[in-house]
Amino acid sequence: MSSYSTGVPPLTPAQAKTTHWTLREKKQRGEPITALTAYDYPTARLLDESGIDMVLVGDSVAMAVLGHESTLSLTMDEMLHHAKAVKRAVKSSLLVVDMPYGSYHTNDDDAVRNALRLVQEGGAEAVKLEGGAYRAPLVERLTRAEIQVVGHIGLTPQSLNRMGGYRVQGRSIPEIEKLLTDAVALEAAGAIAIVLEGIPREVATRITAAAGIPTIGIGAGPDCDGQILVFHDLVRLGFGATAKFVRPFADAGAVVRSAVDQYRHAVESRSFPNDAESYHLGSAVRAELDHTELQSI
Ligand code: KIV
Repeated sequence: MSSYSTGVPPLTPAQAKTTHWTLREKKQRGEPITALTAYDYPTARLLDESGIDMVLVGDSVAMAVLGHESTLSLTMDEMLHHAKAVKRAVKSSLLVVDMPYGSYHTNDDDAVRNALRLVQEGGAEAVKLEGGAYRAPLVERLTRAEIQVVGHIGLTPQSLNRMGGYRVQGRSIPEIEKLLTDAVALEAAGAIAIVLEGIPREVATRITAAAGIPTIGIGAGPDCDGQILVFHDLVRLGFGATAKFVRPFADAGAVVRSAVDQYRHAVESRSFPNDAESYHLGSAVRAELDHTELQSI
């Protein structure tokens, strides 16, 4: 019997629901927006109950959880599987789901169909897609279909092959101009927020000042309207080196390793389980058992 079979305890009393209006009001008040990724029920529930404003089912699930080398191989079905688990846990946070690579790259009809699946089956309250001004017509179309869109510019991991690696973007004046144009175009097309990834602080500051919608930074310095990190980086539950912008706030990898080592030693030394961790017969049956020759043995 696993502890899961005893049922999932009720969720804590409802906090106010975060919407894109909440994010916009926070920007206007100069209050930082908090965002993290989640890919499963327990993590999502912890984030939601901690009051994180935005939970992103990121396509980083491909690397953080599924062991892929990049985000490029993640499928719609895999994303939906994770989105559904997260949706069951999220009550207050704004739930954003990434559109996987390939799900919006063929044509806009397919893109709308795939985004609708993320909303209808995965429970997404907004979808996130990568790319700048050239995605504006798609963002507009999704918005007209009542699908809220979060943009993502700068270092866009789905452009890994074009970028030639995970490189900081926006280091030259033409690149900075382009990023500003991208942000303006996405906002005009109806995006509710823009993730700024892997760009110099000075550039993120200018985009944030120019944009009417919130910017959520990752590797973009402290002046964005909000910050997002990959959950597994936050708690150091990964294996490779982490990027400069990652600050681990816990060492879950070390905690888990230690727990597993202790468990293995306890089993090998027969100290687990002990008598208190075992079920017992009542005294009457126990006494009877001591004097009974069981037929089947
Ligand atoms: O997939 C992801 O985790 C993301 C964040 C890095 C913003 O897109």
